[in-house]
Amino acid sequence: MAGRVAGRVALVTGASSGLGKRFAQVLAAEGAKVVVAARRKERLDGLVKEIGADRCFAVRCDVTDEAQVIAMFDAAEAKFGLVDTVINNAGMTHANDALTQEISEVRKIMDLNVTSVWCVAREAARRLIKAGPSKSERGRIVNTASMAGRHVVPFISAYNASKAAVAHMTRSLAREWARYGINVNAISPGYVATELTDEWLNGENGQKTIGKTPRRRVMDEDSLDEALLFLCSDNAKFVTGSDVLVDDAQTL
Ligand SMILES: NC(=O)c1ccc[n+]([C@@H]2O[C@H](COP(=O)([O-])OP(=O)(O)OC[C@H]3O[C@@H](n4cnc5c(N)ncnc54)[C@H](OP(=O)(O)O)[C@@H]3O)[C@@H](O)[C@H]2O)c1
Repeated sequence: MAGRVAGRVALVTGASSGLGKRFAQVLAAEGAKVVVAARRKERLDGLVKEIGADRCFAVRCDVTDEAQVIAMFDAAEAKFGLVDTVINNAGMTHANDALTQEISEVRKIMDLNVTSVWCVAREAARRLIKAGPSKSERGRIVNTASMAGRHVVPFISAYNASKAAVAHMTRSLAREWARYGINVNAISPGYVATELTDEWLNGENGQKTIGKTPRRRVMDEDSLDEALLFLCSDNAKFVTGSDVLVDDAQTL
């Protein structure tokens, strides 16, 4: 199949809804074989049906569990071969401000939004490096950060901090793995309507916030397609350690 990411084996975490589901659809449409991962397997099975079992494979995985991450890569490799493209996208936010938040919730956010991103990236890089330069030089890791990593979204301090950490981890891993040819980049989206944001965006605070952004709108589902495809493509050979902001001027 021809396409901008033809011949690639891509693994997308958090693919059971929202941006991850979209990323999987877009990569498959541009020629990649796609492994989709999340905890809600029944949703992933629906995506496999839609894309086709010859191009898409579902793995149930809680990415906060290292053993499950390793098993996810084993299953992906057994199905489609070495994973050379990773979309590290699973993430969560929270409703409480710092004064009312429990420390257990902050730990949960950091575990998913930061530690699991590191764990999935490390597993991908280990396997690529072991496979030798001809493989590792095709390596592409794209982490979903957020505009909230650069700009304070009020009252979600743990989420903001976690996404700032993702952006700096992206640069750090890009530096560490530059010698192997593995490119590590991030995409920082503005507000897109998904299950993560739906309730808030439709509530009073969300409506107020969007009303204050320069274009007074949330972004479309397809708004990140081009940034994603570029970062995953061979054309991005010299792009590593970048954090691409796609936010429709929401932070300006
Ligand atoms: N929507 C926005 O406006 C926006 C803006 C900036 C950044 N982001 C970031 O974009 C990413 C995707 O968010 P979204 O808006 O698409 O949210 P979403 O629809 O809620 O999707 C979150 C995904 O993460 C998965 N997930 C959660 N915990 C997991 C775990 N322990 N193990 C494996 N998968 C897990 C969920 O699947 P299961 O529940 O099935 O496991 C789901 O597929 C997140 O990192 C988010 O921070 C979103």
